[in-house]
Amino acid sequence: MESLNFFKGYAKVKPSEDPKSLPNQQKTIPQKRCKIIAITLTVLLTLIIGAIVGAVIHESVTEPPESEELASNSAESLKTVCAVTRYPDSCFSSISSLNKPLTANPLNFFNLSLQATVQELSNLTSLPNELISKSNDKPAELALKDCVGLFHDAVSQLNRSFELMKVGPGEKVLTDMKISDIQTWISAAMTDQDTCLEGIGEMGSTVPNEFKVKVQKSQESMSNSLAILNNIQSLFEKFGLTMP
Ligand SMILES: *[C@@H]1O[C@H](CO)[C@@H](O)[C@H](O)[C@H]1NC(C)=O
Ligand SMILES: *[C@@H]1O[C@H](CO)[C@@H](O)[C@H](O)[C@H]1NC(C)=O
Ligand SMILES: *[C@@H]1O[C@H](CO)[C@@H](O)[C@H](O)[C@H]1NC(C)=O
Repeated sequence: MESLNFFKGYAKVKPSEDPKSLPNQQKTIPQKRCKIIAITLTVLLTLIIGAIVGAVIHESVTEPPESEELASNSAESLKTVCAVTRYPDSCFSSISSLNKPLTANPLNFFNLSLQATVQELSNLTSLPNELISKSNDKPAELALKDCVGLFHDAVSQLNRSFELMKVGPGEKVLTDMKISDIQTWISAAMTDQDTCLEGIGEMGSTVPNEFKVKVQKSQESMSNSLAILNNIQSLFEKFGLTMP
């Protein structure tokens, strides 16, 4: 009933069917029926064409071209990869600021993320010694010295991850075993950062907040690398690629 009213309302737009010309209404009913049928057919046809066009557009936008789009647009593909992380903005900025070619391949992005993580961490290793030289608080100096050792451990754990990805001819870059080992190394490096932060936290304000923020940042970077690795299989699928 409602749809019929809708079509009647539609028909009213025509001046010949102005409600004021009521006496004419009777005569025009068959003509009006024809019009209603014509409009109904037009609407149906529009819906069908719309559905077909919609299906075609839908297919061309979401199916194969998604991976094509990802392959051709490096910023878009980096965004897609970083979307699986907990800190997508820092993931995006640290990988882009490496200024390395962004090959639309999840393994390449994982590699770059790990490189950024190691660089940030390497940058951090000299900072505790700088702070120690300016400090005159023994317990804080000890906590900072612990951090130096922990950072060193973390860098070598991340280095081992790179070693694991090196392959000879015919070897797989990522096996389940390798993924699991790299997950273990990155998690261990994150624990090192935790331990450093705990030691520093006990020192209250004797260690500048800036240092804590930098340690947290490097931990976030590790978390991003780990998230990319944890999602590597589904990322390969999204990019329309198979795991190497
Ligand atoms: C990771 O990047 C390094 C440095 O660019 C490169 O030597 C290495 O082959 C890359 N590893 C993988 C698995 O892509
Ligand atoms: C490392 O430190 C240098 C100098 O402070 C800076 O220019 C660079 O951006 C830093 N790199 C990373 C990855 O934080
Ligand atoms: C990690 O690897 C880099 C580059 O390969 C190397 O310079 C550095 O000495 C290594 N660090 C540790 C702690 O293994």
